[in-house]
Amino acid sequence: MPDDMIPNVLSIAGVDPSGGAGLLADLKTFSALGAYGTGVVAALTAQNTRAVTGIHPVPVAFIAQQLDTLFADVRIDAVKLGMLGTTEVVATVADALRRHHVRRLVVDPVMVSKSGHHLLSPDAVASLRTRILPLAEIITPNLPEAEVLLACAPIRTLADMRAAARALHALGPRIVVLKGGHLDGAESPDVIDDGTTQVELPAARIVTKNTHGTGCTLSAAIAALLPQHDDPIAAIRAAKAYLTAAIAASGELTVGSGHGPVHHFHTLWK
Ligand SMILES: Nc1ncnc2c1ncn2[C@@H]1O[C@H](COP(=O)(O)OP(=O)(O)OP(=O)(O)O)[C@@H](O)[C@H]1O
Ligand SMILES: [Mg+2]
Repeated sequence: MPDDMIPNVLSIAGVDPSGGAGLLADLKTFSALGAYGTGVVAALTAQNTRAVTGIHPVPVAFIAQQLDTLFADVRIDAVKLGMLGTTEVVATVADALRRHHVRRLVVDPVMVSKSGHHLLSPDAVASLRTRILPLAEIITPNLPEAEVLLACAPIRTLADMRAAARALHALGPRIVVLKGGHLDGAESPDVIDDGTTQVELPAARIVTKNTHGTGCTLSAAIAALLPQHDDPIAAIRAAKAYLTAAIAASGELTVGSGHGPVHHFHTLWK
């Protein structure tokens, strides 16, 4: 796309009313990173920084209608998938992505919230694996999600992460970003695998409770930056740098008493 064109980026995800994760966080991230944000609601949640207290599904016919209506009018340069919730939603979204020939797709295979609530029904995992992952340019699982997708033993070390990233690549995405937020220790590295080479993105673990929506923010940042970089790995690096700075600045916000949000506008609000 031409350098002077502002990308239109779509998030298909759940709504977290506290604004730290899900569609609202995705829109903040797109806005902070120079992309015009659009959104299709895949599920409603009742949620704060401490807990998810309820999930209200959106009828799949209406998810399809939201997508078809949007794509009928607006050029979409990249799509990010977040919480989908059920097998039916996974299938509906997969069909729409094919119908609209979406090429630049970032999939965050959301399964469990930071507060421990299930956001994807267990029977939907197989559909996510077979219907969505092969369509993805980039997937961004955390370690528990990688273990479920691969049906493998716990991933505990960087060496385990490297092996898992390669195995995830075999499920169909062009690039895997395996996130190390759940690793024990002072580091929170991510491993990128494109099927031939692996790149490690090292990051010191920031000591903070404010990690609500870190995964949503990273995948949204990648989607916002993909159309703005020739090299997807460069977009991933820039997204990780943005997220790390947003976590580091999270103490400037005072939102809730649980896992607070990251500061999406840390460079804009000085
Ligand atoms: N305390 C931290 N300090 C620095 N980076 C972190 C920290 N926690 C997570 N990250 C980074 O944030 C990103 C998200 O990682 P994580 O494994 O927490 O994802 P997640 O579990 O999907 O998050 P979410 O709960 O938002 O779904 C990764 O790039 C990870 O390295
Ligand atoms: Mg996540």
